[in-house]
Amino acid sequence: MADDHRIRIFDTTLRDGEQSPGASMTLAEKLEMARALAELGVDVLEAGFPIASVGDFEAVRAIATQIAGPTICGLARCNDRDIDRAWEAVQLAQKPRIHVFLATSAIHREHKLRMTPQQIIDRAVAGVRRAAGYCADVEFSPEDAARTEIDFLCAVVEAAIDAGATTVNIPDTVGYATPTQFSRVIRTLKERVPNIEKAIISVHCHDDLGLAVANSLAGVEAGARQVECTINGIGERAGNAALEEIVMALRTRRDYYGADTGVKTERLYPTSRLLTTITGLAVQRNKAIVGRNAFAHESGIHQDGMLKERSTYEIMRPEEVGVPKTDLVLGKHSGRHALRDRAIALGFHLTEEQLNAVFDDFKALADKKKEVYDEDLAVLIEKQLGDD
Ligand code: KIV
Ligand code: ZN
Repeated sequence: MADDHRIRIFDTTLRDGEQSPGASMTLAEKLEMARALAELGVDVLEAGFPIASVGDFEAVRAIATQIAGPTICGLARCNDRDIDRAWEAVQLAQKPRIHVFLATSAIHREHKLRMTPQQIIDRAVAGVRRAAGYCADVEFSPEDAARTEIDFLCAVVEAAIDAGATTVNIPDTVGYATPTQFSRVIRTLKERVPNIEKAIISVHCHDDLGLAVANSLAGVEAGARQVECTINGIGERAGNAALEEIVMALRTRRDYYGADTGVKTERLYPTSRLLTTITGLAVQRNKAIVGRNAFAHESGIHQDGMLKERSTYEIMRPEEVGVPKTDLVLGKHSGRHALRDRAIALGFHLTEEQLNAVFDDFKALADKKKEVYDEDLAVLIEKQLGDD
């Protein structure tokens, strides 16, 4: 099962991503984001942590009932209340999943949970069994797996699969791993856990050392077939692995990884823009794939090379990731229709009233400036949305 060439994309923008300071979203915003993620073609959408609050529960339930396409997943700690609540929230989804987690590293066992290794195994088994009683699709995460003693990690993973876990997710919870070390963990699990073929191995990496994407890809090389990630890499502290980077690394280097995702890559940029608009968390200009400079060529030598043959300095086409073509420049003669189309391409869905207001600002700017670029337009729209 685990050796196929399809990498499942598990999006956790609405759960781990929302845990970033400043990224909380209203129910309506989560639904809008969930719709965009379904359109993007993610395989699994982690909609939230239902026990965390009534708001989180309502958001997960709304997404489970209204969003078709991806598997809809709710997070739960390994206890009955969490698991029951997660099931209550996701049960109406076309494809529901319960994701249970329990920390396994010595640091977490001793200081946070105060539990022995055997108690951890027993709790994990009980949690997975309870979830499997509700739902055929159960994911288990040994939190802080990357810092867990490998023999113990193998024992927990084996027990979780025996108890009914269909996906085992290996988190680098604190972003401590390095690529070679992390791939060794995945390889060892594949070699030593006797029932590992019954489950999909997943990876979930944080970016504290700026290695989340590299570690996730190292996991894929070692046999992981699900990657957990977020749009723009938002998430706890320094964030999670950035979805757009994982997807485009696998697509652009299919020759090397021999695997690909089902993501519609041309939706990457609009989805990234939508998240930025909703949360107000901008991506840095030089951010790979979706940053403003990701496809900009400044130096004369590079521009010359590009004009002769694009592949000299371009490994992906901007259109592949949905960056709107810039050969159609908006100016003072452009109409409302062109403005709306460009706004949609940039990931903004404006009401009639908002469009009218942006149009007035756009005309005023176009009178002063010969050409209005996407960047200018985004600023006008963001200002307008902020004023609303
Ligand atoms: O980082 C982590 O360990 C998590 C788990 C809940 C999977 O987010
Ligand atoms: Zn996480």
